[in-house]
Amino acid sequence: MTRGPRGPDSQARRYKRWGQTQDKVRIKEAIERDLVIHKIKTFPADFIHFSTSGEQVREVVRTKFSTTSSPEQLLQLPTRGKLLVPLDHLPQETVPAEMPPYLIIRLEHFLTDDQQAGLLARWDRFIASKPRHILKPDANRSTSEAFHLGVWEITANKPRLTLESRDQSPEAVEAMDNLLRFIKTYIAPKIATVFKEHAPIQWECILKANARVLRLLKHDLKLRPDLFMGGPFFAVAAKEAGSGIVHLDWNDDRAIYAFVFAVGDWEGGEFCAPQLGIKIPIRPGQVLVVLARVLAHFSAPVTSGRRVVFTCFTDRLLFRHGCPEVMVFSC
Ligand SMILES: [Fe+2]
Repeated sequence: MTRGPRGPDSQARRYKRWGQTQDKVRIKEAIERDLVIHKIKTFPADFIHFSTSGEQVREVVRTKFSTTSSPEQLLQLPTRGKLLVPLDHLPQETVPAEMPPYLIIRLEHFLTDDQQAGLLARWDRFIASKPRHILKPDANRSTSEAFHLGVWEITANKPRLTLESRDQSPEAVEAMDNLLRFIKTYIAPKIATVFKEHAPIQWECILKANARVLRLLKHDLKLRPDLFMGGPFFAVAAKEAGSGIVHLDWNDDRAIYAFVFAVGDWEGGEFCAPQLGIKIPIRPGQVLVVLARVLAHFSAPVTSGRRVVFTCFTDRLLFRHGCPEVMVFSC
């Protein structure tokens, strides 16, 4: 049997496939062209052994980092382009053994315009449903409180749905699930790819944590499947504006990343890191990947417009209990 000429449909499909392949190559080339690598001189170990004291952190920043403690004093890194703050050039003995290869990563073209609009619309709908803030206000961060949604373990020995995910009106639960379903469908898979690519060892551990959560929360997640993100993180903290007070994300694990993105139309709000003397813009469409339990940080003021920030994270106990053999902290 001989092959006849290609029909127009087949040609179009082939062309489309070819176009996608070429586009991927071009996008990758463009990203590499705009790559910014910011090399730090020493590992920021100032808070690695601190327990949960926000006041202690503020005191250290006030004294040891007095010349880099406000947004105006910090060096601003480029607004555009992929940004990497690696650790692999530092003397091995100065970096805790379980650290992933990068302290910070910022990625471009992470959320499309449509996805940003979809996320904002769902956030507005969630707020319009009048969800209750149940957790105590966190004086260590800022006056605008976040909602903590999803799954965590915090101080317990097995995972649970966060109280703010559960103890809400039916309308708020419906709007919340709709918001989380959007994140789970369009954003979590991309974060998973980034996680796996940039921190493969930690990714293997988090897969084990996933299996444990699925096993222990089988019943809850059957009723609320949108609260399980399927891999890269387990909880989402969402709020308007940012955390203006320098702090560490105490509940995070120091060996794994938090993922931060924002939607809206705003100016300001850069991610400030006094220990490194830098501030990093996070613009619409970008995602910041950071070890938020290692690096003290705060948001520069939002000088105009509106900004809704989503921080996707995994708490320490959920991570460690999911993968107990993981790594003995050797620092
Ligand atoms: Fe934070």
